[in-house]
Amino acid sequence: MKKKQLRSHQWFGREGKMGMIYRSWMRNQGIPDNQFDGRPVIGICNTWSELTPCNAHFRELAESVKKGVYEAGGFPLEFPITSLGETMMRPTAMLFRNLASMDAEETIRANPLDGVVLLCGCDKTTPSSLMGAASVNLPTIVVSGGPMLNGKYQNTDIGSGTHVWKFSEDLRSGKMTPRQFSMAEACMSRSRGHCMTMGTASTMASMIESLGMTLPGGAAIPAADSRRKVLAQLAGRRIVGMVEEDLKISDIITREAIENAIVVNAGIGGSTNLVIHLTAIAGRVGVKIDLDDYDKLGSNVPLLVNLLPSGKYLMEDFYYAGGVPVVIKELQDLLHMDVITANGKTMAENVSDAECYNKDVIATVADPIQEAAGIAVLRGNLAANGAIIKPSAATEALMVHKGKAVVFENINDFYAKIDNPDLDIDENSIMVLKNVGPKGYPGMAEVGNMPLPKKLLAKGVEDMVRISDGRMSGTAYGTVVLHVSPEAAVGGNLALVQDGDIIELDVPNRKLQLHVADDELERRRSQYSRENGKDARGYVKLYVDHVLQADQGADMDFLVGKSGSYVAKDNH
Ligand code: FES
Repeated sequence: MKKKQLRSHQWFGREGKMGMIYRSWMRNQGIPDNQFDGRPVIGICNTWSELTPCNAHFRELAESVKKGVYEAGGFPLEFPITSLGETMMRPTAMLFRNLASMDAEETIRANPLDGVVLLCGCDKTTPSSLMGAASVNLPTIVVSGGPMLNGKYQNTDIGSGTHVWKFSEDLRSGKMTPRQFSMAEACMSRSRGHCMTMGTASTMASMIESLGMTLPGGAAIPAADSRRKVLAQLAGRRIVGMVEEDLKISDIITREAIENAIVVNAGIGGSTNLVIHLTAIAGRVGVKIDLDDYDKLGSNVPLLVNLLPSGKYLMEDFYYAGGVPVVIKELQDLLHMDVITANGKTMAENVSDAECYNKDVIATVADPIQEAAGIAVLRGNLAANGAIIKPSAATEALMVHKGKAVVFENINDFYAKIDNPDLDIDENSIMVLKNVGPKGYPGMAEVGNMPLPKKLLAKGVEDMVRISDGRMSGTAYGTVVLHVSPEAAVGGNLALVQDGDIIELDVPNRKLQLHVADDELERRRSQYSRENGKDARGYVKLYVDHVLQADQGADMDFLVGKSGSYVAKDNH
């Protein structure tokens, strides 16, 4: 390769003062100059953090990537970016997704990199890294950190998140003792890796694979399996080739690839969070996706993967059964199989020899787990710009339902009232939670799957219709309507719902209607005042002022699109 073809040569190949500055400080790490000038310089963008337990093994994974980069004649440089720990960060990691994307974008663009390997795992670390990298658009490959091994409790498999929701309801209803609850805690998270249900992290890893942004089979290998390191090393080798071929993100993440990701997400029973993250990623590469695309492309796709929370198995089982390549091969008639992927081959070539080893875990199109899965998009006067529901995680009998609203003005109001024995609520009521959307919470927290009232749990009620402008953990389940847009905090009709109002949910007809007359809604609107974000400062102020609504991916308005990789000015 000629030096002038490499972006890094604009730094390391310089003469005079600037060349000395760019090279000399790099040499303090004991690196000879012929290591970094003239070889593809590969950034390993690492979301390692001990505050992100799902990504805590990434320093080791980065070493495997480095081996591969050296083997292929490149020069690796590992760097940290903001890491978002889903279980640690308050008020919600989602508030910081866009901040982390800005960190990834500007760090990649500002530095002498020719290609990038993104190390991602926990929920938000994947979309944030990819959003940022996409706005720079260098050759890039993703290595996911891999899921945890199956949780094991009393000789039964238990899944991250999904069993937290189940066990905490069991504890509240007295089916489980505090001691059993505590034992289950240790049994659930027993190895390195991210949540091993088909929650958001596994959904994101599968999305990366269906977009073609990783090596085939990369999503499901458990974090503790030695083949995860092999994958990282092979990705290190491959990124050097991608630089030589100038195979950039925009060559891989095309409209066709995004459509593939929507279809595959339906087939795997993936998280509703895919909608918000994939829409934001599409915005960065300049592909316009709207909510209707998810319904049109995904809602008639058969559910093939039998994983919690929609089914019963876990990611370890999914890997042994053949993983994402089997799903893609099975769904090939619904996919664009000629798209190019990170290894330089088409999707069709990548999955040509995929084989299913357990049809109970990965079913066939001819005999699916469910005929039609995906995400249904609901509209009506309660969600003029749309709301979503995941039918495969909902209760069939509640898919068409009319009920009286029980309203919670915000999350504090919810916790103050939910277990009050005098709360006027029964199993036919519809729970409505306001002000948990992008601007309202702020950060659009995963609180949409509200716990049911204790008195109804005690009666054996297991599901109710719940509606909010928030999100739901990918590990959760229930008849939960999410992402109501416009959200209450910007004056959407959700803000105007009152206790006792009749709400109609009709999933087959894609309808979400508040049965209150227009003139009454106008009267309520004239009395409604908004106060969200008035105390915000710093990044949170920037976020509240600029975040887009859920149907637009909740990116910030000024981050949509890309600036590219060229930086015209030197630093001294
Ligand atoms: Fe990190 Fe679930 S908490 S993936």
